[in-house]
Amino acid sequence: MTLLYIYILWVAACVDSISADSHITVSARVGSTVVLPCNLRNVFTKTPRVRWHNDVGFVFERSSGGTQIDPGYEGRVDIPENELRKGNCSLVLKNVRITDDGAYRSFVVEYVDRTNTDKMQDISRVKLSVDAFQISAQVGSTVLLPCEWSDLPIQTPHVEWYIDSETVFERKGKESFQGEGYEGRVDVPEDELLKGICSLVLKNVSATDAAVYRSSMVVTHTKKSVLVQKVELSVYENPEKREEEPSGEAGINWPHLLIFILSLFMCFLFSR
Ligand SMILES: *[C@@H]1O[C@H](CO)[C@@H](O)[C@H](O)[C@H]1NC(C)=O
Ligand SMILES: *[C@@H]1O[C@H](CO)[C@@H](O)[C@H](O)[C@H]1NC(C)=O
Repeated sequence: MTLLYIYILWVAACVDSISADSHITVSARVGSTVVLPCNLRNVFTKTPRVRWHNDVGFVFERSSGGTQIDPGYEGRVDIPENELRKGNCSLVLKNVRITDDGAYRSFVVEYVDRTNTDKMQDISRVKLSVDAFQISAQVGSTVLLPCEWSDLPIQTPHVEWYIDSETVFERKGKESFQGEGYEGRVDVPEDELLKGICSLVLKNVSATDAAVYRSSMVVTHTKKSVLVQKVELSVYENPEKREEEPSGEAGINWPHLLIFILSLFMCFLFSR
């Protein structure tokens, strides 16, 4: 993974130097921390003003006057000031949520020139692709598919967990529904749901439970469902048979290395 990451950074840096309009795609797992790259190619004595947007609206701003954060990103985003002074305007996004994706949402950062405050300039466009949360469970065990909705505008929580179009579990207040094949095995406890936790408890896991589970919540004012979580559950028979994690860290990954060398070569070629 490290090598893959390094060459993605390299390709990103390379593409960026050819054309500032190029889009960079960054993928991240739910719950992880991701850096959306950005570079001002300048060193500053005073903190420059940098603003990040997504396709819905404002996300984060840092200037010499401090920071401004959209409430939906409270405590999750930052542009470290020391990095910004070095011209590094990358946005650090912590605890990535499925809602940060929004089908390849485009993040745009604008740099407001100090001498001309009206002028906004696109510096970087990044597409963030959020992958499903990965969980594996042993046959017969109880597993918790994590989910949190506390940042959503909801009064009466109404949650639905489903696989494709098939309902696994649904709860609205005291009323709940368990899908076919899940009778007596699934729940989102009412008190947890009221606290902002929509995690699904799945008991006595069987091999056929392996699937991509999605959870949606009905938002109060629009009465529409919004996707809250996407979890890929894999099931293993016993600990010995558990699938090995791909070990990209150790050893050389030849296809990756080849792409890396190729991209270096292309970079050299195009930047002349
Ligand atoms: C830019 O800042 C980000 C976030 O602080 C950091 O992860 C990254 O390594 C920095 N990049 C460079 C080239 O220093
Ligand atoms: C667990 O599920 C299996 C079928 O997959 C069933 O035979 C068994 O009785 C269940 N165990 C419990 C404790 O419900």
